[in-house]
Amino acid sequence: MRTYHQLTDPDRSGLAAQIGAQRQRVAERLAGVRRIVVVMSGKGGVGKSYVTANLGRAAARSGRAVGVVDADLNGPTIPSLLQDGDAPRTTQDRPEPTRGLDEVRYVSMGQFLEAGAPLAFKGPSAESFVWRGAMEASALREFLADVEWGALDLLLLDLPPGMQRYLELCDILGNPPAVLTVTIPTPESRDAVRRAMRAAVDHGSELLGIVENMVGGELKGTAADDLAREFAIPVIARIPWHPTPDAWNQLVTRIPDARRTTDDGR
Ligand SMILES: Nc1ncnc2c1ncn2[C@@H]1O[C@H](COP(=O)(O)OP(=O)(O)OP(=O)(O)O)[C@@H](O)[C@H]1O
Ligand SMILES: [Mg+2]
Repeated sequence: MRTYHQLTDPDRSGLAAQIGAQRQRVAERLAGVRRIVVVMSGKGGVGKSYVTANLGRAAARSGRAVGVVDADLNGPTIPSLLQDGDAPRTTQDRPEPTRGLDEVRYVSMGQFLEAGAPLAFKGPSAESFVWRGAMEASALREFLADVEWGALDLLLLDLPPGMQRYLELCDILGNPPAVLTVTIPTPESRDAVRRAMRAAVDHGSELLGIVENMVGGELKGTAADDLAREFAIPVIARIPWHPTPDAWNQLVTRIPDARRTTDDGR
C-alpha cells in the first residue's frame, strides 16, 4: 500500500499524473460498490460517526455487505465504534478493510496511528498548511483507491465537520456523492447544517434525507423539520439518546438502493 509519506519524496513533479491515475484506480476499486453515501453535517459533535457506525451495523445485520471509511483523518473515531476485539488487525502491508462489529468492513487512520497521536506530516514547515491539506486528500484517496473493498451494497463515509473533506471527495470520486445529513434539534445546528447542505446541493449531490439525532432530551428546536421543508427532502430518522437497535433498523429501510446482497443472488 502506498502511503502519504510518498508525497514527501523530493521529486513531486509527477503529482498531477499520479492523482489522475489514482482517480482511475478509485473508479475501478469502487466498481463493485452499489451505493456510496457520505454522512455529513456542517456542525461538529452532532453524532455523525455514531450514526454512520450504527447505520452500517444495522445494514450489515440485515444482510448487506457494508463498508465504512473514516474520513476524519485527525480525529478518527470509527475504530472505537466498530472495533471487534476478536478480529485480526489490518496492517499497512495488507490493504484490506478491517472486519468490525456485525462484519462491517472499515478503514480508519486510527488503524495506522498510535492511540491519540495526530497525523505527523513531513512536508517543509513553511508550507505545512498546504502540505497538510495535500496529505489528507492523498490519504483519503488511498483509502478509496488502494483498499480492497470487494463487492459492497453500501459504502458509508464518515466526514469530519466542515466542508473541506466533502470537496476533496467530489474531486477524488469524479462525481458528487449522495449525502445523508445529521443534525441535532437546535437552531445553531440548523444554521450550520443548512450551509453544508447548500454547498452539497451546489456541487450536485443528491440529498437522501435528514437524520435528527439526540432528540427527546434537553436539546430543543425543530432543526430537522425546518431543513426538510427548506430543501424539500424527508426527515428519515429521529434518533433519541441511547436508541434501541430498532431505530437503526428503520433507518436502513429509508436509504434508497442499498439493497440486500441476496436480492440478486450475490
Ligand atoms: N443518540 C445518541 N445517544 C447516545 N450517545 C450519542 C448519540 N449520538 C452521539 N452520541 C455520542 O456523542 C458523542 C459525539 O458523537 P460523534 O462522535 O458521533 O459526533 P460527530 O458528529 O461524529 O463529531 P465530530 O464532529 O467530532 O466528528 C460520542 O461520544 C457519541 O457516542
Ligand atoms: Mg465524527
